[in-house]
Amino acid sequence: AHSLVGRDFLSLNHFKSEDIKQFLWTAKDLKTRIKDNGEIFQPLVGKSAALVFQKRSTRTRLSAEMGMTKLGGSACFLGPDDIHLGVNESVKDSARVLTSMADVIVARVHGQEVLDELANEARIPVISGLSDFLHPLQILADFMTLQEHFGYLRGLKIAWIGDGNNVLHSLLYGCAKIGIDLNVATPAGYEPDATVTNDALKLAGKTGASFRIGNDPRQAAYRADVIVTDTWVSLGQEQEKQKRLKDFAGFQINRKMLKEAGGSWVFLHCLPRKKEEVTDDIFYGEESLVWQEAENRMWTLMVSFSCDVRQNDIQDNRSSC
Ligand code: CP
Ligand code: NVA
Repeated sequence: AHSLVGRDFLSLNHFKSEDIKQFLWTAKDLKTRIKDNGEIFQPLVGKSAALVFQKRSTRTRLSAEMGMTKLGGSACFLGPDDIHLGVNESVKDSARVLTSMADVIVARVHGQEVLDELANEARIPVISGLSDFLHPLQILADFMTLQEHFGYLRGLKIAWIGDGNNVLHSLLYGCAKIGIDLNVATPAGYEPDATVTNDALKLAGKTGASFRIGNDPRQAAYRADVIVTDTWVSLGQEQEKQKRLKDFAGFQINRKMLKEAGGSWVFLHCLPRKKEEVTDDIFYGEESLVWQEAENRMWTLMVSFSCDVRQNDIQDNRSSC
């Protein structure tokens, strides 16, 4: 059984580089077997996932429900109006009941501390489906997509141009663990959390990844292999929208901005996307990998469920990260 069995998945920071690579090989293996080869692979018959979502979601919810069904199990979605958790009942009490009926919890929450509390109280694995602070599953899907496109990960140069948010925090950890260079440009005042940046810098010492955190989009994009952005207004920040739109002026990804980026970049966006963040010609253009990235949310999330994938079965698909 692979190394996620019985473990919480709350941050990429908690996993070794080898673990992360293995998640990616396993996800690719599931995609090859189930999608390409039409294999029925259902190791999770009789298992169930509780999906506890305090926020809206398209991809994460779909990935969990469709992924669980593909593997033979079932999923129960509990949105903010469905479950008492944190409103009418303590997180601790909900966690105990969830433990008694489900085999795994996927939770999308506001504060990271809710995930931590759930994980402390539940006796079944808790998987982060996003918090205000981190979005680790997104980065597994991004890395899987880049591995499929480039055939390798180590040594790639990623430019993140946008908000210093939850997705960037997980990307910093992921790049540090795998050895991917990351150039970040955020508007002044929207830099990533300093503790995450410092932790990632320390980790990067081991893999040789280099990081640059600044405020100049053109500098960040220079010679990048991958251009990434995300929404400027994350879930829960809706009341800051007008201020953010002003502060992010000049950060739209467009061809003028990328003139000096070099000739062969690809584009990622975790979605949902708004027009001000990236022009249509790039978002829907041939450099864009966003739909493959969205699909890979499912194959990577399935890894956190698929307790039965055997090491031997995934060797053939191993490619060098
Ligand atoms: N990328 C992502 O997490 O999308 P959803 O918010 O739709 O789940
Ligand atoms: N940063 C975004 C990601 C959505 C998948 C948010 O938190 O809303």
